[in-house]
Amino acid sequence: MNLGIIQPNTISLPPSKPELKQEVPSVMNEDTFIEFRDFIYKHSGIYFNNSKKELLESRIAKRLITHKIYSFEEYFNFLHSSEGRVEIPMLYESITINETYFFRTEQQFEVLEQVLIPEIIKAHQERGETNPTIKIWSAAASSGEEAYTIAIIIAEKIKPLYPNVKFQIIGTDINNTVLETARRGVYKEYAVRNISPEILRKYFTREGNSYHLSPEIRSSVSFQHLNLFDQSAMDSISGIDVVFCCNVLIYFDVVSKVKVIENIYKSMNKAGYLFVGYSESLHGLSKDFSLIHLHKAMAYRKE
Ligand SMILES: C[S@@+](CC[C@H](N)C(=O)[O-])C[C@H]1O[C@@H](n2cnc3c(N)ncnc32)[C@H](O)[C@@H]1O
Repeated sequence: MNLGIIQPNTISLPPSKPELKQEVPSVMNEDTFIEFRDFIYKHSGIYFNNSKKELLESRIAKRLITHKIYSFEEYFNFLHSSEGRVEIPMLYESITINETYFFRTEQQFEVLEQVLIPEIIKAHQERGETNPTIKIWSAAASSGEEAYTIAIIIAEKIKPLYPNVKFQIIGTDINNTVLETARRGVYKEYAVRNISPEILRKYFTREGNSYHLSPEIRSSVSFQHLNLFDQSAMDSISGIDVVFCCNVLIYFDVVSKVKVIENIYKSMNKAGYLFVGYSESLHGLSKDFSLIHLHKAMAYRKE
């Protein structure tokens, strides 16, 4: 009896041919891993030891998918071809870790505001500069939260006390995509979670789930692409009073750390200060700085 129920199609179709699908590999052979590891190390200082092989494989596999390339070796050759040169920055972007948020290293910012900036201004004035410019550099700026935190502190706490002092804040990073985010100045809840409600209200406008940084703060920071291992780019930075080089040294091996620290040292003014991340230190890397224990945080002073 037909009850009005549509019967499944009973016409039998010929079995379809199995699709010829190429798969992106997930495991690199040992030689290819060493080639990638050395290539990345030489160009960015980031060192993937054997325990990070899987991480490297998964990150590079994503680039293979983007380019519809089906072997790690073919991708490696592509990087060395003339059309593949533009891919090199994309490879770095796929392997860098960009975790950051506003007021991340809170104690360092407090020391910057209460101790270091007043001391640095005084030192400039003692050298005869009546209206000095203080230069602060966020050397692995990621999407800008660290540099903008400094800009907010200066607008909020320092400018009212020192109206004649100028500040130049620079944020640099190897990753162009995060730098674009930094220039846009639009953030999600995660990035702003450590900001006090008053500061959030004063310097951000909320639109849906996004927080738009005020034009005043955005325009006080300039962002530029810089690889900490690019010698000529590093040589172009000078006269820095305070450097934040936080949470990036951990990705480098000792030789690379020494090189980066040496270059940062050269870029700084005498008696300038360097901050590194809470889990980082210059121990065994440089004797050119003195470790200064300030009230709540430590900083390295260029002697
Ligand atoms: C974890 S984030 C640190 C962000 C911020 N300094 C903080 O502490 O919150 C590390 C940043 O270092 C950048 N980086 C890694 N290698 C670099 C290199 N050779 N030159 C410049 N930046 C690099 C990454 O792109 C990433 O944005």
